[in-house]
Amino acid sequence: MMFGGHRGMTQDAAQVTDVGKALRRLLQYFLPFRKLLAAAVAMIVVSTLLRLAAPYLTGVAVDQFLAPGEQPRPVWLEWLLPEDVRRETGLTVTMLLLLATYLLNWGSTAAQFYLVILAGQRVLFRMRTQIFERIQALSLSFFDQWEAGDLMSRLVNDTQVIEQVFSGGIVRLASMGLSLIGIVVSMLSLNWRLALASFSVLPIMVLATSAVSRRAREAFRRSRQTIGEVSAELQENIAAVREVQAFAREQASVGEFEVVNAMNRDANVQAESIISAFSPTLDVLSTIALAIVVGYGGYLSLAFDPPLASVGIIVSFLLYVQRFYEPIRGIATLYTQLQSAVAGAERVFELLDTEDEITDAPQATVMPLIRGRVEFDRVTFGYNGRAEDLVLRDIDLTVEPGQMVALVGPTGVGKTTLVSLLLRLYDVDQGSISIDGYDVRHVTRESLRRQVGVVLQDTFLFSGTVMDNIRYGRLEASDEEVLAAARLANADQFITRLPEGYQTELGEQGHTLSQGQRQLIAIARAVLSDPRILILDEATSNVDTRTERLIQRALDDLLKGRTSFVIAHRLSTIQDADQVIVLEKERIVERGTHEELLTAGGLYADLYNSQFRRE
Ligand SMILES: Nc1ncnc2c1ncn2[C@@H]1O[C@H](COP(=O)(O)OP(=O)(O)O)[C@@H](O)[C@H]1O
Ligand SMILES: [Mg+2]
Repeated sequence: MMFGGHRGMTQDAAQVTDVGKALRRLLQYFLPFRKLLAAAVAMIVVSTLLRLAAPYLTGVAVDQFLAPGEQPRPVWLEWLLPEDVRRETGLTVTMLLLLATYLLNWGSTAAQFYLVILAGQRVLFRMRTQIFERIQALSLSFFDQWEAGDLMSRLVNDTQVIEQVFSGGIVRLASMGLSLIGIVVSMLSLNWRLALASFSVLPIMVLATSAVSRRAREAFRRSRQTIGEVSAELQENIAAVREVQAFAREQASVGEFEVVNAMNRDANVQAESIISAFSPTLDVLSTIALAIVVGYGGYLSLAFDPPLASVGIIVSFLLYVQRFYEPIRGIATLYTQLQSAVAGAERVFELLDTEDEITDAPQATVMPLIRGRVEFDRVTFGYNGRAEDLVLRDIDLTVEPGQMVALVGPTGVGKTTLVSLLLRLYDVDQGSISIDGYDVRHVTRESLRRQVGVVLQDTFLFSGTVMDNIRYGRLEASDEEVLAAARLANADQFITRLPEGYQTELGEQGHTLSQGQRQLIAIARAVLSDPRILILDEATSNVDTRTERLIQRALDDLLKGRTSFVIAHRLSTIQDADQVIVLEKERIVERGTHEELLTAGGLYADLYNSQFRRE
């Protein structure tokens, strides 16, 4: 199996094999947005400086105006105010400055989040488009649909974790790191003696924080693992029920479920109690730090002449010391988040890197815009290349531009295989497949696949809005184009009835769509991408007959003027096909129109009549 077992892909930071490598590759996605990011970094620096200014300004206000002593006036204050300014005026001006730094800090913080989220969203969008294309291709080649579904649900989670980190996490990490450095530097430059004394609690804080967050992380990991087991358990049972109706196992499953569930609850409780036991410890540490500042600062100020620390400095220090802890804790939690995002990214890259078996030929050309004439010339293919287990043998098939071909045959006969060969997911063993005269092996896969649209039995939705999900059909499409595509696909009606219309969030935390609605989204995507060739592989197999009719109408519009390959279980849906191809035992055994094949009274007629009677 390509991606490891069901349980192999939990979101464990521990599974990251090479953080540096994954991170570098992630950062590459950000390269196109480096200006945006540079602006964000500038904003981070600005807001950090502004935040550091507050304790300093307060100290200056005390030393210069509230309890003026021997302290020389800072240069910037001399420049700002006349020497003999009244103390009230001086105090008011410094406090107004303080207010200004708060306001500016607020503005620059908002700006940095905005900038980073903007870049992050675009990067994610690109990444998801790549994932989307890869999944389209892979879903066809997965012959175990279950495996594909499992993979997809995990990918939704992975992209979500990456998203969380990039929409905010990175900014906070950077600004907290800078804050910590800034606090240390400011304190050292204001008064190194007092600074060094106050820093004595820092190592204890760091050690305590990292120990606690490590233990909490372990507890959380246990909880996640048990969740993974619960869902793996459920999945296996559901799969089993679906396939063999093993109802006798039900009672046992419920028992197992309860055990794992209880384990999960205990792990959660443990994690939470570790964290809550920790906050009193921190309060104690903070109080010790404050006591050091007041005690040692007071000593420096009273026992020496001239005093080695002023009251204002002590006030500034009290404010700085209170800000120690926040960045330390923030960095600890964000670091954990970052690790799981990187783990998610690794899995995404793993998916993007699959499919290396088929590569572009060295002289591969870009296939120009095609008309859509498809020709299978004596195509023979087997998955392991052995002559005794071929899937397709000597397939000859010519499809004129705009024609609709229906592929019919029992499950496992090779219908999906035939269309995956057209997409060049595999190379034929003998014979050739060409489109408008271009052998698919001689053109780039990218230019080939861009012109072939695929709608499958299961449609993959990302977390994100309905609008975004349709836009995966063609990234550059404007909102108006997305709306037009949705209308053409008959999806408009149900979308406008959703709570927030096109802006409704889909996915884990969002709205869930019915199977039929998902298929309508898939068709809207296909409309938007406007491919010359369309493949519908059991696109309506999982929906009820009424929804199928709705989808069918949308498909009729979509298929017009395009070459299409339609695989459908319900033969009533393919009556209008220009050619019906019946496959049996590796070969084409019948071909013709629906009417012709009915009259011929062969395999197709039998299939059709038995289905007709049942309905
Ligand atoms: N990726 C694969 N690797 C190996 N064998 C496969 C793969 N996909 C399909 N097969 C096998 O090839 C045959 C044809 O499968 P498929 O084209 O999916 O049939 P259909 O779509 O007509 O139901 C089946 O015997 C199936 O088990
Ligand atoms: Mg199939």
